[in-house]
Amino acid sequence: MTISVTILAAGQGSRMRSALPKVLHPLANRPMLTWVINAAEQINPDVVVVVYGHGGEQVKEQLAGHNISWVLQSEQLGTGHAVQQAIPQIINSQQVLVLYGDTPLISPITLQQLITTTSEDGVGIITAKFSDPTGLGRIIRDNNNKVSAIVEEKDATIAQKKINEINTGIMLLPVKKLTQWLSQLENDNAQSEFYLTDIIKMAVSDGVSITTVTPKANAEVAGVNTRQQLIELERSYCLTQAAQLLAEGVTIRDPARFDLRGELHAAQDVTIDINVIIEGKVTLGKNVKIGPNVILKEVTIGDNTEIFANSMLEESTVGENCLIGPFARLRPGTKLANDVKVGNFVETKKAIVADGSKIPHLSYIGDAVVGKNVNIGAGVITANYDGVNKHQTTIEDNVFIGCDTQLIAPVTIGKSAYIGCGSSINKDAPANKLTLARSRQKTIEGWEPPKKGA
Ligand code: UD1
Ligand code: CA
Repeated sequence: MTISVTILAAGQGSRMRSALPKVLHPLANRPMLTWVINAAEQINPDVVVVVYGHGGEQVKEQLAGHNISWVLQSEQLGTGHAVQQAIPQIINSQQVLVLYGDTPLISPITLQQLITTTSEDGVGIITAKFSDPTGLGRIIRDNNNKVSAIVEEKDATIAQKKINEINTGIMLLPVKKLTQWLSQLENDNAQSEFYLTDIIKMAVSDGVSITTVTPKANAEVAGVNTRQQLIELERSYCLTQAAQLLAEGVTIRDPARFDLRGELHAAQDVTIDINVIIEGKVTLGKNVKIGPNVILKEVTIGDNTEIFANSMLEESTVGENCLIGPFARLRPGTKLANDVKVGNFVETKKAIVADGSKIPHLSYIGDAVVGKNVNIGAGVITANYDGVNKHQTTIEDNVFIGCDTQLIAPVTIGKSAYIGCGSSINKDAPANKLTLARSRQKTIEGWEPPKKGA
């Protein structure tokens, strides 16, 4: 059995009121079309065809990483016409799975179920019951409860409009018969379009078996026409993900204020406070606590570490038993080992910090390698940039750097060295010694404060 996928994505999406093609609008940070393609790829199809129209170049550019056969439908004459454009690309497959580019949350499990339920030369349709089916095609069943037709809202009688079983648009069709049916389509309907749904009647009169499958949740088959529908679908997705995490032993303090815009792998007894945003791939170890308003993007955090409120971590690795924030910013390339503390208003970038070191307040540590058990005082800055190039700072084990020190890179601070407060260090500081680089304090004898009118 060989299957192709055809994704319909040529519609303009005018109700989005956007310069961006509808299928590129993101749901949880990924274009809607990417979701659909990812689901399609899970069933290992012969080919994935995308029928595009509006903003074609932009769409192709965004999906460059995927193996797709692109088909232009320059005029949008209806879903039947759209599928017809794809026929030359799918003709060698036995079946075609039709998906919509604006129905992002369809799950591969439901698609697999559709494939299993539909006979090789039969028609399979994913249908759902909607409490408000307005605008959608209705599934018409005969006295034996067999599907006999799909009627579009605009062509439906008052009685048909009361049916709440709807056509999701997702169908599995036998390619050879489909080719014949499509050639017989006419557009003598309320919208003067070539409806893909009209092939159902033809299938019935050809004696082809028609089966239906229903998804676990209606969100899987919710199509997006407006921004309102898109954000509602994103919220529903985040709520579902939160429920699943709760079931797996992760506490999400308020699922309504949890945003998963990537992939979260969380071990047992992780707690996530409100307004946390997860982007990219994020891995959290056992007992990790994430405070409110934290943004985690592409990070790995070890067991028992706590991230306090309002911190932002990106492309970074944090070890076990670390304390980060509040108001900490770990920028790309930060790698913290175990028992590290990065406190408030500290920014790090490409900083490799070994076990037990502390950067508790108001520092910038960039392009730096920091050894074990180092203490970096408040206000310490690595001056890593000379206006053209970035330079490295090396701080060896057990160093103590006094407050308000500038480390002018490239520079190395030797093991167990002390740097006095307020130093501007532009030469390597030797191990085990106190180095100071600041002017001496003096007191002016006989000084008097200025007087008014003097
Ligand atoms: C379609 C179905 C309807 C179903 C509904 C589910 C038909 C005739 N109707 O209606 O039964 O309940 O979807 O959302 O099939 N597209 C093209 N080229 C075209 C027309 C559409 O690529 O010429 C694409 C759109 O971009 C979209 C999908 O096909 O991804 C559905 O098109 P849309 O116009 O939204 O169909 P509906 O009228 O909503
Ligand atoms: Ca639609």
